[in-house]
Amino acid sequence: MRETVTVDLPGRAYDVRIGPGLIAQAGAEIAPLLSRPKVAILTDETVAALHLDALTAGLAAEGITSTSLALPAGEATKSWGPLEQSVSWLLDQQIERGDVVVAFGGGVIGDLAGFAAAILRRGVRFVQIPTSLLAQVDSSVGGKTGINAAQGKNLIGAFHQPSLVLADTDVLGTLTPRDFLAGYGEVVKYGLLGDAAFFAWLEAQGPALAAGDMAARVEAVRWSVQMKADIVTRDETEQGDRALLNLGHTFGHALEAATGYSDRLLHGEGVAIGCALAFELSARMGLCSQEDPSRVRAHLKDMGMKTDLADIPGDLPDADALVQLMAQDKKVVRGTLRFILTRGIGKAFITSDVPGEMVRTVLQDGLRVHA
Ligand SMILES: NC(=O)c1ccc[n+]([C@@H]2O[C@H](COP(=O)([O-])OP(=O)(O)OC[C@H]3O[C@@H](n4cnc5c(N)ncnc54)[C@H](O)[C@@H]3O)[C@@H](O)[C@H]2O)c1
Ligand SMILES: [Zn+2]
Repeated sequence: MRETVTVDLPGRAYDVRIGPGLIAQAGAEIAPLLSRPKVAILTDETVAALHLDALTAGLAAEGITSTSLALPAGEATKSWGPLEQSVSWLLDQQIERGDVVVAFGGGVIGDLAGFAAAILRRGVRFVQIPTSLLAQVDSSVGGKTGINAAQGKNLIGAFHQPSLVLADTDVLGTLTPRDFLAGYGEVVKYGLLGDAAFFAWLEAQGPALAAGDMAARVEAVRWSVQMKADIVTRDETEQGDRALLNLGHTFGHALEAATGYSDRLLHGEGVAIGCALAFELSARMGLCSQEDPSRVRAHLKDMGMKTDLADIPGDLPDADALVQLMAQDKKVVRGTLRFILTRGIGKAFITSDVPGEMVRTVLQDGLRVHA
């Protein structure tokens, strides 16, 4: 059960290895990249407590020594303070241009460590060892790195591709069910945006995958990573097609902002609800049949996921305020909000041609049920 997807960017191609047991073999996987047998690991405290010993042992098995810095778990770590701390620590560890930084954790650590590697000595290489489902299927691949600003999420950063990604599907076993399902929100997104066969496969295999079926987990990660790799290879810096990966995110980001980026709504949960809303909007605009949003919602419910605005605990602002929040999304280009809409499952496309009134109505209807 070992899969490899290659991200075939000219001059910066790298492999994403996927399967159980990869952490134990991290030394053998990483050794070919090293100019000396030493790496620096950035991780978070939760992941460190659960899996750092295994990684250290996997590296030591090939004679690679490692030092590590464990930062507090959570989105707040993607900010200036921890970035400064990380870069300064890497300098103290005497990490040089020829060395490799290892990002060991979820998307927060991957984004932060990747950005630290991008700016350390004008750029050192880094290896992603993603430990959350979200990081394995999405954030560890494609080279977007960065931190959040007071003005918004992910507003400071750089494109910096990793040299290798090791997605050990065993470590997904220690995720809370909620974190696992939030990551699954991004998996569903891939089927919905570009591959109806993948979505149909998820409808059939999703419950087994959530229950722990390893072959299904490996296949879901492989399929997702292959789709992301294809899109990133076509459009690394998001001049066009890469924006398709934002299906569900314009709605989702507004909902995350409305809930204060708190525990009330995880990113992947916002994406799942956002996908359902994007399909609903597409159906109302006559772009797809009403059966498509129904099928999307049915699968999310089947998986026990948040599906509708009504599933978000606590008060939400009104539709106008949510539309305002959508307009602040960084996907706004010259003042026009770009939407990812769909002509059916697996047929997403990018458009700026969306009547604001219709967006408001879709939100209003969802909020009516919420109230
Ligand atoms: N760079 C990109 O292209 C990209 C794409 C999507 C998302 N992101 C970013 O990713 C971040 C979200 O990633 P995330 O959901 O992985 O968040 P995260 O890194 O905060 O991880 C979620 C939680 O799971 C814990 N965790 C991780 N692995 C674990 C394991 N194996 N066992 C037990 N607990 C574990 C973490 O400690 C954390 O508490 C956001 O900041 C988002 O902006 C980036
Ligand atoms: Zn996302």
